[in-house]
Amino acid sequence: MDGIEVAPSILSADFARLADQLEPLLAAGVRVVHLDVMDGHFVPPITFGPLIVAALREQVHGAGACLDVHLMVERPERHLEAFAESGADSVTIHLEATPHPHYALTAARRLGLRAGVALNPGTPAGAVAELGDALDHVLCMTVDPGWAGQRFIERSPEKVARLRELLPSDVPIQVDGGIDVATAVACRRAGAQLFVAASAIFQAGDAVAAWRELTRAVRA
Ligand code: DX5
Ligand code: ZN
Repeated sequence: MDGIEVAPSILSADFARLADQLEPLLAAGVRVVHLDVMDGHFVPPITFGPLIVAALREQVHGAGACLDVHLMVERPERHLEAFAESGADSVTIHLEATPHPHYALTAARRLGLRAGVALNPGTPAGAVAELGDALDHVLCMTVDPGWAGQRFIERSPEKVARLRELLPSDVPIQVDGGIDVATAVACRRAGAQLFVAASAIFQAGDAVAAWRELTRAVRA
């Protein structure tokens, strides 16, 4: 996940036609596909697990893109092996979901995964300070996790800027939740490099055009 990338989150896609919906996006140049795994504990909804990651593996890797798994699950360290085996390239664990984030990140890397932590909106930016060299990326949640289609929390760019100051320059910041052209540009100015969008892409009439517009806006 180098450079500035917009990652479609399949959470707002039609699950009966996932491959069909991803195909034109991958052909248009999508390099990161974001997969929201929810366990019904850390967040209320249940979505999917490693089986769906494995089902998309051939198509996504075949197009030269990577599978970015956002684990909204309690004790994510218990599931890392299953996601590594399913073909995930990177995993993001929530700092709030385990007392052992450093262990989880190290274990993820040992399995060959790129490892990141996510911070809920209520978690202070400073919480990442001790994890600097164990991190490949940081996800700054710009909504409370659990659902697509929520409203962007307006003060998020300030938090992104605080994270940018705290983190080594080679650790990219990802933003996720309520991302559209305006909020993406605000986060880009604050220092974010990776942008996740579900509704703004899959609920748009033309998903490819929406992804292109977002990508153009954050790369400008
Ligand atoms: C929310 C998920 C997000 C979600 C974003 O808990 O982590 O990835 O799919 O959806 P939008 O872009 O619609 O806010
Ligand atoms: Zn997500």
